[in-house]
Order: sequence, then structure tokens, then C-alpha cells
Amino acid sequence: MTSKATIPGDAQSPVGASLLAKASSQAISSLNDTAQSRADSRLQVSGPTLDFADISLTLGRTTILDHVTFQVRPGSVHALVGPNGGGKSSLIKTLLGQMPHQGRLSLQWPGEPGTIGYVPQALEFDRGLPMTVDDFMAAMCQRRPAFLGLSKHYAKAIGDALERVGMQDKRKRRMGALSGGERQRVLLAQGLIPAPQLLVLDEPMSALDEAGIRVFERLLDDWRAAGITVLWIEHDLEAVGRLADHVTGLNRRVLFDATPRQALTPDRLLSLFSTHPRSAA
Ligand SMILES: Nc1ncnc2c1ncn2[C@@H]1O[C@H](COP(=O)(O)OP(=O)(O)OP(=O)(O)O)[C@@H](O)[C@H]1O
Ligand SMILES: [Mg+2]
Repeated sequence: MTSKATIPGDAQSPVGASLLAKASSQAISSLNDTAQSRADSRLQVSGPTLDFADISLTLGRTTILDHVTFQVRPGSVHALVGPNGGGKSSLIKTLLGQMPHQGRLSLQWPGEPGTIGYVPQALEFDRGLPMTVDDFMAAMCQRRPAFLGLSKHYAKAIGDALERVGMQDKRKRRMGALSGGERQRVLLAQGLIPAPQLLVLDEPMSALDEAGIRVFERLLDDWRAAGITVLWIEHDLEAVGRLADHVTGLNRRVLFDATPRQALTPDRLLSLFSTHPRSAA
């Protein structure tokens, strides 16, 4: 059984609404060799197919997204790359139901609609706020006020998530006392609760140190093995070339959409990062 949800362009969808709650609180034959063997090792796909069809977004008199069309295959690690201001975060916000848009955006789940995890681009944080890592996780993950403390169920889930990102021993630290990389790990951890079938990651590697990058790469392996669909905005093109199954280049419009090996060629990258991109591929 499959199920399909279309994200309306003019309203906050149920999918978007539940994500907002959390936020305040992504042809096998064309995969490169590495991606093919990764796909073969996958047990089953639990994540949805994402269809961005002719998505446009205009804010004021500025065109942010111009007829963006591409598909994210179920269970794939799909990277979104492009210059600053190219519209990557805005595209994700349309998916989350946070931006009005034109066009058709749909999710096709392999069964019942699943859970969507979201790791935002950066955390604006008041360093003086007396909020511990546990408090932050409680506020992001559970549906009761943080001052009531952690419920048993969530205490375990939060402990497990913090363990996965190597932050278990810093649960009692104030968020403001963490390094940028440590805060980024906590942001990753909150995206794991409840266990998602679609993960939307907005520059999850920014600020991560080398150990943090290894943690992130392990998580990516786990998500791939679990058949989770991952839509991943990333500036590190070397990491995208090594870790993604597919990559879409976006600078207001789609400039390429292919495997990393096909897409990340000097010519295409020059076009992607030029001020006046000329050709779409
Ligand atoms: N709420 C908003 N109101 C007006 N303009 C906005 C809004 N959000 C984003 N923009 C504009 O839309 C354009 C695309 O921004 P967006 O954040 O989507 O780019 P991005 O590709 O994620 O960039 P970066 O790599 O720097 O994060 C920018 O020019 C930005 O100023
Ligand atoms: Mg962005």
C-alpha cells in the first residue's frame, strides 16, 4: 500500500504543520558504482518519494525559485547544492509548508505516512539562556512543557539520540556553553526523535569538527541502511561527491540533476556558482 500527500502552495499543510511543531521544535541504473552497491545493501525502503513539480516562489518582487522540477528517490541520499541565496533553504521551507509557493509538491510514502525529521540550518541561540542540552531536547522532542522535565519514554529516546551523536556526557551542559560543533550535534540529535522516515537536513555539517563529521557519516550510513529518504543541503562538494546518491544544483532554478559523478564536473560547477547562470542541464 502506498499513500500520497500533496503540499498545497497556499496553506500550511498537515505535514508542514507537524514539522513546524517540531522545528520550533529526498534510475538505479544510472547510479555510480558506489551508490549501486549501497543501494544493493539496503534492506528495504521506508522513506517517501518527493516530487517537486514546477515549484515557483516569489517574495515581494524577487523570484526566489523559478519553475523548480526534480524528484527525490525513496531511500536515497539526495544532496541539494548551490550558491548562497540560491533558494535551497527556501525550497525546503516549501516542503515543510512554511513558504507559499506555486506548483505541485507531493510525497509518496511506501505505506502509511511516516515521520519527517528536520535539522535547521543554524540555531540562533542566546548564549546566556539557562537551558541545558536535556532541556533543549525536551523542548524540541516532547509534547509537554520542558519545565516538567523529561518523561521516562523521552528520557530514553533522548539519551539514545545524544549517544548516537556522541553528546551523552554533556546532557547537563548549558546550550550556551557548547562549541558550535557540539551545538550542531545536538541539532542532529533532535532530528532523530521520533525516528524519521524522511530527513531534511539544512547544512548539517557546518561547524562540525572532524570527529563530528565522522559521527554524521555514520548516521548517513544508518539512514541509508534503514531505507530512509534524506534530502541534504550541503556546501561541501567533496562530501557530496563521496556520500550522496544523487545531487541537484539549484540557483533559483535547477541547473543540473544527476549522480555526483555526472554532475560535479568543473563546467557544471562553474555555471552553478556564476552570477548569471546560462544553461540548464
Ligand atoms: N522570508 C523571506 N523574505 C524575503 N526574502 C527571503 C526570505 N527568505 C529567504 N529570502 C531570500 O530568498 C533568497 C534565497 O534564500 P535561501 O535562504 O533560500 O538561500 P540558500 O540557498 O539557502 O542560501 P545559503 O546557502 O546562504 O543558506 C535570498 O535572496 C534570501 O534573501
Ligand atoms: Mg540556506
